[in-house]
Amino acid sequence: MASYEVIGSIAVMKFPEEEKISIKEKKKVAEKLLEKNNVKTVVEKIGRIKGRLRTLKTKHLAGIKTLTTIHKENGCLMKVNIETCYFSPRLSEERKRIMKECKNNEKVLVMFGGVAPYAIVIAKNKKEVKEVVSVEIGKECSKYAQENVRMNKQEKKVRIIQGDVKKIIPRLKEKGEKYDRIIMTRPNLKETFIKYALMVAKKGGMIHYHGFSHEEDKEEMVKELLEEINNERRKVKVLKVMKVGDIAPRKYRWRIDMKILN
Ligand SMILES: C[S@@+](CC[C@H](N)C(=O)[O-])C[C@H]1O[C@@H](n2cnc3c(N)ncnc32)[C@H](O)[C@@H]1O
Repeated sequence: MASYEVIGSIAVMKFPEEEKISIKEKKKVAEKLLEKNNVKTVVEKIGRIKGRLRTLKTKHLAGIKTLTTIHKENGCLMKVNIETCYFSPRLSEERKRIMKECKNNEKVLVMFGGVAPYAIVIAKNKKEVKEVVSVEIGKECSKYAQENVRMNKQEKKVRIIQGDVKKIIPRLKEKGEKYDRIIMTRPNLKETFIKYALMVAKKGGMIHYHGFSHEEDKEEMVKELLEEINNERRKVKVLKVMKVGDIAPRKYRWRIDMKILN
């Protein structure tokens, strides 16, 4: 069975590889989807999301030939190129949950910011938050992030920084910047990047860390993360470990919420 998700006016379809469906058949299914849904373009997702930039390849199947669209969520508009930028509409509930946790006067850092959906959803819906900084390595993705900040009129509240968190965060530290809340919407890569978050994490602040593992490896993932934090001579209290999405059969995206104690 084919499945799909909708980003703005583009439907991204996924066909089971083992079924060896012909391109003619795929186009027929795509045309039907175009008729039934409020979408203007249908593409097929080729392979998996991969690489440091977490991008995907697609093949056009029906409708207008474009890879760029504007997606609406949580009262915000996100412009995105579905091939050059990571964007998952399935994370909109997670963004809403995190936004609701943000408090008055907080300075928030989003590491791995993408086209800035977390930063914008927080800034636009939580007027009391002081500032949101979003760091993203992808150049094209960061251009969309800047455009999205303007489109949502959040220039006064949201700062987009293009670059590698490994270089940018030590610079923020040098300038004496500290954050009350750090959101680590990590790519599914081995490195935890936690030491960079700790460089600018305020005592008493919060880190929302995204990790990836099978259900049975969850405890181990948390244990290894806490060991790394301990090696950095920092203390945290884990407040919550919750499942916030699935990324492969039986493999999940977890959020680990930690309060910084020292
Ligand atoms: C899972 S995506 C999350 C994007 C965004 N937060 C969202 O939810 O739409 C991870 C993002 O991290 C970026 N990234 C990967 N390594 C990075 C690094 N070292 N420094 C900054 N950004 C990085 C990727 O380009 C990608 O956009």
